[in-house]
This record gives sequence, C-alpha cells and structure tokens, in this order.
Amino acid sequence: MDIGILNGRIVEISPRIDAASARMIEAAGRLVAPCFVDPHFHMDATLSLGLPRLNRSGTLLEGIALWGELKPLLTVDAVMERALRYCDLAVSQGLLAIRTHVDVCDDRLTATEALIEVRRRVAPYIDLQLVAFPQDGLFRSPNAEANLLRALDMGVDVVGGIPHFERTMQDGAASVRRLCEIAADRGLPVDLHCDESDDPMSRHIETLAAETVRLGLQGRVVGSHCTSMHSMDNYYASKLIPLIAEAGMHIVPNPLINLTLQGRSDTYPRRRGLTRVAELRAAGVNVALGQDCTMDPWYPLGSADMLEVAHMAVHAVPMTSREAMAWSFTSVTVNGARAMGLADPTLRVGGQATMVVLQARDPIEAVRLKATRLAVIRNGRVLAQTAPRVAQLSLPGRPDSLDPASCAPIAED
Ligand code: FE2
Repeated sequence: MDIGILNGRIVEISPRIDAASARMIEAAGRLVAPCFVDPHFHMDATLSLGLPRLNRSGTLLEGIALWGELKPLLTVDAVMERALRYCDLAVSQGLLAIRTHVDVCDDRLTATEALIEVRRRVAPYIDLQLVAFPQDGLFRSPNAEANLLRALDMGVDVVGGIPHFERTMQDGAASVRRLCEIAADRGLPVDLHCDESDDPMSRHIETLAAETVRLGLQGRVVGSHCTSMHSMDNYYASKLIPLIAEAGMHIVPNPLINLTLQGRSDTYPRRRGLTRVAELRAAGVNVALGQDCTMDPWYPLGSADMLEVAHMAVHAVPMTSREAMAWSFTSVTVNGARAMGLADPTLRVGGQATMVVLQARDPIEAVRLKATRLAVIRNGRVLAQTAPRVAQLSLPGRPDSLDPASCAPIAED
C-alpha cells in the first residue's frame, strides 16, 4: 500500500498513488505503524544513573531511598536537561506519547516545575502527560497531599499514588480513596502505582476497582505495575480480575523493571513479579506495557525502546503464539494510547499522519528484531530518520550484505 499525506493528515491509502509529492519515503514493503506510546515513565529521574551513587542491592526500596538522597540536590535546569535528552532519544525510537510520573514529595516542587516546562517545549512533537506522584506516600510523607494539590493547580494532568508504600494496609486503602476523590472532584484521570510488591496480600487494586465504580471513574483509571497479582492465590485472582474488568480499568505492567526489581527477597524458585497479563487480556481488560525507568536509581539500562519492552513481555508472560506476539506490538502502540486517554492512533484515511516506518515486514518481526526506526513522522512532518541496519559480509560463496529483516520466513497461523 501507498500512504498519501496532505496537511498533516492521511488522505489516501491505496495500492498505488501517482500524485506529485513534495517528499516521498520509499518504505519498500516494510511495516508502517502507529508511533509507540509509553504510558508509564519517570522522566524526573531518567538518565540520573550514579547520582549521587549506584543502587547496590538492586531493590525497589533502595531505589526509593537513593532517589530521596538525590531529590534535595535537584535543580530545575538539571532535570530539564536530562528530560529533554531523553525526549530526543524517544523521538529517534518513534516514541511520541509518554505519561510520566513526577515526584511531588519535595516542598520546592522542582521536578514538577521542570517537567511542566519540558511538556511545553516538546508539545510540537511529543504528547507528554504528567502524573502528580507522591513517591514517599500520600500520608507517610509530610506535606504530600498539599504538594500534590499544588502540583495539580500548576497544571499537572493526572492524580498518582503509591498505596503499598503507606505505613499500613489501612493507610494504603485510605490513600486510594482520597486520591480517587481528588480526581473525581477535579475531573482528572487516576494512575496509581498499585501493589508494586511481591506481597500476595497487597490488594489495593481491589480498593482502586471499587472506588472507580463508586465515583464513576470508569475508563479514566490506570493500575500500574500490579506485581502482587503475580503472587496472589489463584482463587482470589479469579474474583479480582472480573472486578478490574467491570471497573473499566487499564492495567500497565512494566516488564523490564518488574523482572529486575521483584523476587529480590526470594531464594529459588525466584518469582518473576509480572502481573497476570494473559488472564487480564482474556477478561477484556486493556493492558498496555510501560518502560518505567531508563538509567535511574531503579534500573541501569533502558533505551526508550518500546519494542524492547514488548520483547521482554513475550518472554516473561510468557506468550509465544502468533496472536499474542502480535498483541505485544499493539500493547505498546494502540493500547497505550487508550490508557492515556488519547485518540486511537490506528492509521486510517482522515486520521493524523503520525507513524513510524520500521525495518521489519510485520509486527512480530518488529518485536523480534527490535526493528530500526527508519522514519518517524508526526502530523506529516519527518522528525527522525535512521539508516537501515545492513551488515556487510566477507564470506566465501555467500552474499556480500545482510538485512536482518530479510533472512527469515514469515509463518502463517
Ligand atoms: Fe513507576
């Protein structure tokens, strides 16, 4: 198919378009897809690896403590510089919509001020949403609620929380209720770090589902991480998952980080800590995968590559049917947009001309190869281009070059 673009919109998709064109990109039969979406990230901490020291234990709790050491040292300029560098990387990877949490447990609200300015600067090319995130606990941290309300007054988009980090289960449940009420009062979405723990009794997701229904927030609520669901009793999970579906909640697992942070107190067998993706999908819940961290106190790797996130999910869930692997691609594009409340980015005539050209022939091959983003286009404007990955070979009797996207069969179901 050829895709015709005019004035930022797709005006034609057909086998052959002969119109004179100001600019043509030869996709040569490769996959053209909606751009990637990351519905869960921490842009205030990104690219801070090693500041002020490294996470020695590799645990979530040491990561939170380390971030607490860095927070008083933050400046608006330093946070903005790191965040903008990450946004450059994101664009090069075809990642044009990001929901980032911003820690509001800092009376100066340094990161909030910085990321509001970053949101303004990147608006021409990235849909950046900010979540007011009381990292140290809404009730556990002094001034957290007042700071959260101040951040929302400053224009932060979404209400965040961390019920499993409050002092008691009761405080956690109360924080969920309070945060949902704030969101209902202000007409805002909710996105809580929910049960990011190996504790099977961490059941704040249940309260979040109930509050969503009580306050009529269906479709606007995200449960992020939800790793305790991995360790829950199967009977309880069989009751819980229909409650999540009934509440119209979105669930956002973060496979790269869940796999590296969870199970740290286990010997062997060691739990993976990823939530129940297959069962949630089967119940009709919108599941969208997130990156969460890149080179920060919690995770030393990462590259703004949502195909790497999908690739990890395929292994960790595990899900190797053709249908499920193709779904993993959808989970980092269309499903992420739904979780963020954005318009459906599926490519269609009349829709926005925002797309990525990948060095792959189909979504499964894109996930398998973590395909090169040949061209990243937003509203008809080319934002980034990368040369195809082609190896030059010097082998007796063999071809002199190799495109990794051309050397495998495409299986049919
Ligand atoms: Fe997170």
